[in-house]
Amino acid sequence: MKINGQAFRTIWLKDGDSTCVQIIDQRFLPHRFVIEDLHNVAEAADAIREMHVRGAPLIGATAAFGMYLACLEAKDKKDKQQWLHQAAQLLKSTRPTAVDLAWAVDRQLAILANHSDLPNKIDHSLAEAQNICTLSVEACLDIGKNGLAIIQQLHTQKKDAPINILTHCNAGWLACVDHGTATAPIYAAHDSGIPVHVWVDETRPRNQGARLTAWELQQHGVPHTIIADNTGGHLMQHGMVDMVIVGSDRTTRCGDVANKIGTYLKALAAKDNDIPFYVALPSSSIDWKLRDGLKEIPIEQRGDEEVKYIQGMEGGELKSVLLSPAESPAANFGFDVTPARLVTGLITERGVCGATEKELIQLFPEH
Ligand code: MRU
Repeated sequence: MKINGQAFRTIWLKDGDSTCVQIIDQRFLPHRFVIEDLHNVAEAADAIREMHVRGAPLIGATAAFGMYLACLEAKDKKDKQQWLHQAAQLLKSTRPTAVDLAWAVDRQLAILANHSDLPNKIDHSLAEAQNICTLSVEACLDIGKNGLAIIQQLHTQKKDAPINILTHCNAGWLACVDHGTATAPIYAAHDSGIPVHVWVDETRPRNQGARLTAWELQQHGVPHTIIADNTGGHLMQHGMVDMVIVGSDRTTRCGDVANKIGTYLKALAAKDNDIPFYVALPSSSIDWKLRDGLKEIPIEQRGDEEVKYIQGMEGGELKSVLLSPAESPAANFGFDVTPARLVTGLITERGVCGATEKELIQLFPEH
């Protein structure tokens, strides 16, 4: 994706220093573009836990690079096996909902198990981290093509009127390595000349929509409007939304979808108004071991300060201000589960399918 005309991914190996991984520290967006250096697995884990990076595919890519950094650190460790095992546990413990995290760490562990000497472990873990990034970029591009077909169909039905798409949270290139999941079809449609307009849910409490999705769309020149989280239902009732596209942190083999808190309410409103509700996701976000999302997907709970305070820019400085009575407790559930019955379709890298085990297995017969 281009920022002020310069191409960026969200994570990369530092030019000229293969011991350093660089990320965009998303806590400062859209106000400041800050690049952060990660030198060890503890810094990688911290970047995931404290949401310098976030979004399921990017969490996975960062964890993969975290395992590479752990291999570099293993030089100074007495029991290298035990160190790598601890590093994997540390990374996996940072955020519980997005399954890409465990998927990426487990891929690294499988590769490390095939190589006994450390120089080989280092080389292969770096290659795998880069491979995971490439897989993510390719999957997002294919999701874009597959989702574009749906938008093209709506465009034909609506003649030349703009297609209004509602999205929640940030499932854009900032949540991935490039292109995004939910945004990939939107960028593809915009680039192919279809007039699209995006309703961007602000996504309290961390405002990933207002801060990140709006910034991304603006950088790419896609018309959009930020809305307060409770607005979507009203817009749907008045024919102002043609489709919803969201991302996913973990989808079960039966098609239940965990995504940012508030997604479920948008799915309910979409169902009530006969509006197609699509989930765009790479297969790395599918947890093939789980069937029942409501019972089995772990839902992250974060600190109450994210609800009670709001962050913004004033006088060139990022500030946090208290919104609520200081003593009032707040609850901060990070994700909710949208049952498969509310999902019109899953847009994956292999094609679009219904949110059912049968249709998912048709696309991914190896599972
Ligand atoms: O808490 P976050 O910002 O990591 O949550 C991100 C989301 O919920 C995204 O929609 C999801 O990870 C899909 S990203 C392509």
